[in-house]
Amino acid sequence: MTDRLRYAVVVGNSDGIGLAFTRRLLADGWRVAGLSRRENSINVPTYTHHTVDVTSPDFPQVLGTAIDELGQVDLCVYAAGVGEPVDLADLDEQTRTFEVNLMGAVRTAAVVVPRMLAAGDGHIIGLSSLADKLVSGHAPGYAGSKAGLSSYLMGLSAALRGQGVSVTTVRFGFVDTKMAKGPVRPLMIPVDRAVEILVRCVRDRPVRVSRPRRMALLTTALSPFARG
Ligand SMILES: NC(=O)c1ccc[n+]([C@@H]2O[C@H](COP(=O)([O-])OP(=O)(O)OC[C@H]3O[C@@H](n4cnc5c(N)ncnc54)[C@H](OP(=O)(O)O)[C@@H]3O)[C@@H](O)[C@H]2O)c1
Repeated sequence: MTDRLRYAVVVGNSDGIGLAFTRRLLADGWRVAGLSRRENSINVPTYTHHTVDVTSPDFPQVLGTAIDELGQVDLCVYAAGVGEPVDLADLDEQTRTFEVNLMGAVRTAAVVVPRMLAAGDGHIIGLSSLADKLVSGHAPGYAGSKAGLSSYLMGLSAALRGQGVSVTTVRFGFVDTKMAKGPVRPLMIPVDRAVEILVRCVRDRPVRVSRPRRMALLTTALSPFARG
């Protein structure tokens, strides 16, 4: 804990990792604004919730207002995400996956980065996935959107170097939330362990974190992109 108040925005926090991390930030003394389509059960004076869909045209304005009400933004966590199996008779769900996982994060950065640059300080954490190195016939939109997300966030990190604003790409394997609903979930990370990893990211501001390490090595080895 530093001795001054810290202010965070968490996008995608009605459930799962975003919700658990919001609770941790609040317990650590942060003031937090959260955004998702549904409300969550947090009810403390240091928290405000804004119901919004990250794909809706008014999302940037709602996010901007949330930050203005907060007063400043030291940390922005993009935890919104979806991942549905492909249905070849209806590819709209795959389109939507890109809109939530990738374009929602891109639009979030467009609102947050100018404010952080003006303040000369700030940290964005984006929840990508170890799937960013894979090609998936099961959920092509998920792997494709995460590939785009990791590349964009790491590019932004490079572009912002030396200007006080950090960007961290977090690549988890399986985390024990409703999203990890498949029958096979090797090396699953409990949500509280994922939260600890994010707390360390806030402290150290790394460019990229991949967990579990063993699964990261495996996905890299299996990646068709590594074979040229
Ligand atoms: N769980 C895993 O195994 C795993 C592994 C690697 C990476 N990740 C990534 O970690 C992030 C969080 O996943 P999770 O496991 O915590 O999933 P989760 O439990 O399903 O939570 C997803 C969150 O995203 C929000 N969200 C989804 N669509 C949204 C939209 N259109 N607008 C606003 N918010 C939206 C949901 O809120 P509403 O439904 O209320 O909108 C919910 O709060 C995702 O990006 C996911 O890809 C997860």
